Amino acid sequence: MNCNKKTVKDVDVRGKRVLLRCDFNVPRDKETNVITDDKRIRAAIPTISYLLENGAAVVACSHLGRPKGEWVPELSLAPVAARLSELLGKPVKMAKDVVGPDAMALAAGLKSGEIMLLENLRYHKEETKNDPEFAKKLASMADIYVSDAFGTVHRAHASTAGVAQYLPAVSGFLVEKELRVIGGALNNPERPLVAILGGSKVGDKLGVINSLLDKADTLIIGGGMAYTFVKAMGGKIGTSLCEDDRLDYARDMIAKAKERGVRFLYSQDFIAAREFSPDAEPVVISGDIPDDMMGLDIGPATRKLFCDAIRDAGTVIWNGPMGVFEFDAFAHGTEAVARAMAECKGITIIGGGDSAAAVEKFGLSDKMTHVSTGGGASLEFIEGLELPGVACLLDK
Ligand code: 3PG
Repeated sequence: MNCNKKTVKDVDVRGKRVLLRCDFNVPRDKETNVITDDKRIRAAIPTISYLLENGAAVVACSHLGRPKGEWVPELSLAPVAARLSELLGKPVKMAKDVVGPDAMALAAGLKSGEIMLLENLRYHKEETKNDPEFAKKLASMADIYVSDAFGTVHRAHASTAGVAQYLPAVSGFLVEKELRVIGGALNNPERPLVAILGGSKVGDKLGVINSLLDKADTLIIGGGMAYTFVKAMGGKIGTSLCEDDRLDYARDMIAKAKERGVRFLYSQDFIAAREFSPDAEPVVISGDIPDDMMGLDIGPATRKLFCDAIRDAGTVIWNGPMGVFEFDAFAHGTEAVARAMAECKGITIIGGGDSAAAVEKFGLSDKMTHVSTGGGASLEFIEGLELPGVACLLDK
């Protein structure tokens, strides 16, 4: 996939209306619906400010959650408009609909330097179906399309890819930066390149592991997915997470690493417990995990093994926690990796999702070179898949 795409700086935005796709899919409190992390809103500010200062009228749009074509009031983007307005220090006009009469009228009356936000794109099922008529209606509100929704570029939806059929399409600064930093780390890294994968499922990361073995000098596997590798190599894992249908795959990957001279590190000892609970008693296990216990974090020897490799890296890229970091007793492995990355003098990249939440929890986000705003998107990018929301943009 060609990532050398035109940006907002390559088009004349003065006096134009710009349809700006953002990823305002932000976490909210389950009870109060208050936004609990506004990182994705803040990440859109540089592009929005640039557009407004350069005389564009901005029709911003995003999805929030997965309402599947239903008009779910809790998934309204109105709280996002309010937060965005605070951050910009100017009004953000909130449309009552997406491509209905209210949005159309607001967009038509929008002046240079003004910004509005459409309602949740996924209130229409046509959005995720990439329906051409819906895309055409969205496009009719603007002269130029700008994609700054990195978290959603792996989706071929009407607002992420379809609209580019009808408008000149360029990237915003966030998409440009994510592609440059993550792409640079993978294709032209300062070596050694250390990649760390965690999280619960091997099945989610099959392609990523395979493709990282072509690029990385060291591949580290921790978290729930590591138990499949431990079992594949003859270890006993008790009731830990395991994908028995991936045992052959795990052995193949270990063999591939050997063949390619890639250092392949995975959990050697564990913090285990008898139950999956924040109050479960943590027990350090080196060797086999007893039949009635499950591994919930990497053990101290593994922590050291992983952290030593991370500290000396030229580039580190990390996706997926090392254990159940939401439970304090099982957060030490994830915290140790985050701290080793913070101490590393090389380029450090957090691939979004849970790892981004973890570094935020430990107060280390500012110590990283880059914390991606895309979880699924950055994984697919690392895997080398074509991202529909990038492929549709104009080449430089
Ligand atoms: C995300 O949070 O990963 C993006 O906003 C994409 O959301 P989705 O998985 O519902 O498409």
